Amino acid sequence: MSKKILAIYYTQSGQLADIMTAFTAPLAHAGAAVETVQIKPVEDFKFPWTGSRFFSVMPDCVLGVPRPIEEPDFKQTKYDLVILGYQPWFLSPSIPCNALLHNQTFQQLVKDTPVITISEARNMWLNAWVRVRKMLKDLGATHVGNIALFDRHPNPISFITIFYWMLTGKKEKYLNIFPKPGVDAADIAGTAKFGQIVASRLAAGRWEGLQDELLAEKAVEIKYPLMFIEARAKPIFRAWAKIISSRKNQAPWIAAFKYYLFAALFLGAPILLTLDAIFLRPFSSRRIAKKKLSYLQVNY
Ligand SMILES: Cc1cc2nc3c(=O)[nH]c(=O)nc-3n(C[C@H](O)[C@H](O)[C@H](O)COP(=O)(O)O)c2cc1C
Repeated sequence: MSKKILAIYYTQSGQLADIMTAFTAPLAHAGAAVETVQIKPVEDFKFPWTGSRFFSVMPDCVLGVPRPIEEPDFKQTKYDLVILGYQPWFLSPSIPCNALLHNQTFQQLVKDTPVITISEARNMWLNAWVRVRKMLKDLGATHVGNIALFDRHPNPISFITIFYWMLTGKKEKYLNIFPKPGVDAADIAGTAKFGQIVASRLAAGRWEGLQDELLAEKAVEIKYPLMFIEARAKPIFRAWAKIISSRKNQAPWIAAFKYYLFAALFLGAPILLTLDAIFLRPFSSRRIAKKKLSYLQVNY
């Protein structure tokens, strides 16, 4: 009997749909029955965004407030493998992904079931990953693999290009000068090789060591400067989220957060990274290696 796979995700631009298609193609080719389901928020987030709507979701993302989704209609009650695609929003699991992880039907489905996570991000995905990994662990899922895709362009460049993309809906070269935003087409197509690895594991029914095999193919790469920035940003985002959500009139606070974010990225981050490169990083190689390893593992 063919193996049953559930591939579930949410997408606005279709980028994650392309990734899931490329990733699952070798599995379907190998004869598995791949059921693809999209998470549907009851009130969907309009795409493209306006600037104010974009920043207004920050508190709910960071504080992990789920919003209602339509009850997912799964064909099976048990799958041989669940593939969860997700994206970070404000260094946190996106609201639709968080809502799915709070959905009872999905919770029952992943219990004692092999799960592979695949994320697509601008480039800051570590905090969201730690939260998704923890939630899956708490649900009793057997987390066997993780793949993390991101935009490889320099941080300030992808910050500009993602706003162009998110606010216009066009995954195109801004002003014909900037690079195309998002995950590179070659990286999207390249997920097929991870799918191939998973296909042979599925056939053999042996998940042990899958993550190491994926890591050898660079399914996850950790960039130190981004890891450094995310670690500093995490408590600050939380503080902002708490302040904003406690206000009756949130608009001025959301605007203030927006200006903070621009200043932090273009001024704060380069200064902190320079200070770190001089005073801390040269003496912390073991601590950094340990931290990186913690992000590479599925069971930590
Ligand atoms: C509200 C919002 C917040 C985002 N925050 C982050 C973030 O913190 N880190 C990051 O790397 N990408 C971030 N992104 C980019 C997304 O993770 C994702 O790559 C992009 O939105 C494309 O996803 P799609 O398939 O849903 O269109 C954000 C996107 C949105 C819409």
